Amino acid sequence: MWEGFPLFPEQASTIAQGVDSLYLFLVGLTAFFSVLIFTVIFVFAIIYRRRSEDEQPEAIEGSKALEIFWSVVPFCITMVIFTWGASLYFQNARSPEDAMEINVVGKQWMWKIQHPEGQREINELHVPVGRPVKLIMTSEDVIHSFFVPAFRIKMDVLPGRYTTAWFEATKPGEFHLFCAEYCGNEHSKMGGKVVVLDPPAYERWISGEGQGESLAQLGQRRFEELRCVNCHHPGSGDRGPSLQGIFGRERPLDDGSTAIADEDYFRESVLNPRAKVVSGFQPVMPTFQGQITEEQLLELIAYVRTLEGEQGETP
Ligand code: CUA
Repeated sequence: MWEGFPLFPEQASTIAQGVDSLYLFLVGLTAFFSVLIFTVIFVFAIIYRRRSEDEQPEAIEGSKALEIFWSVVPFCITMVIFTWGASLYFQNARSPEDAMEINVVGKQWMWKIQHPEGQREINELHVPVGRPVKLIMTSEDVIHSFFVPAFRIKMDVLPGRYTTAWFEATKPGEFHLFCAEYCGNEHSKMGGKVVVLDPPAYERWISGEGQGESLAQLGQRRFEELRCVNCHHPGSGDRGPSLQGIFGRERPLDDGSTAIADEDYFRESVLNPRAKVVSGFQPVMPTFQGQITEEQLLELIAYVRTLEGEQGETP
């Protein structure tokens, strides 16, 4: 629709059309009222100009009908903007349940991508067309921002927590990827491309070069290397809670509150184990701050997600 119109990047995701429609609506609305207001000012300045030096204007009492009119009309217009914008926002913020998940780690000055199958890429992201993709992102250093104009997505990538963004590409091709947050000297070079492939081409790519261990397998190795397994196995008793089947579930904490065992919870529990201690356990776990990278943390999380079974129970 916007080919040849250089103001707009092409639309290559399911949400792009909706974002552009709202944007054009806002521009059109703003333009309409700007023209209307300036025309009225100009015309009134001529019609109601002072015609002689001693002319005294008549006192005006005001008009209730007019005031109600110019309050109700803008209210209705802003409610349209609100509901339209909010529905797009929710659509953009909630990823579909069946989305494939890909990890993104931002770092001065590159994007590091990890696929669940184990592939790694730098400044390139290969995805299949027509499938929702959810990005789970964090930063190793400063704030970055993951921006793909053709998909109309932009999300801050922060150190110390995970943020997510999702998209479903609608056509094969290569699309620019930018960092949209000034992050130091080479911020402007911190870009790359998203390569959208047909499903068969994607299958070939994902099972092709560099096919090694999956993320979860790497995580399992890490789990053993770092000796996590000594205290976190189903028979570890009161040394540490078992991690079987806890991902995404609610955990009771020793201060009486609860926490959802999501990505952020696991990351915090590895780096700052005393922040949330599971009820019934002592705060004896050492921190792994400085001993594990963001990518290794994501591998560990991928592994924990594969642990099925009764929640935290000894079998
Ligand atoms: Cu990273 Cu700008």
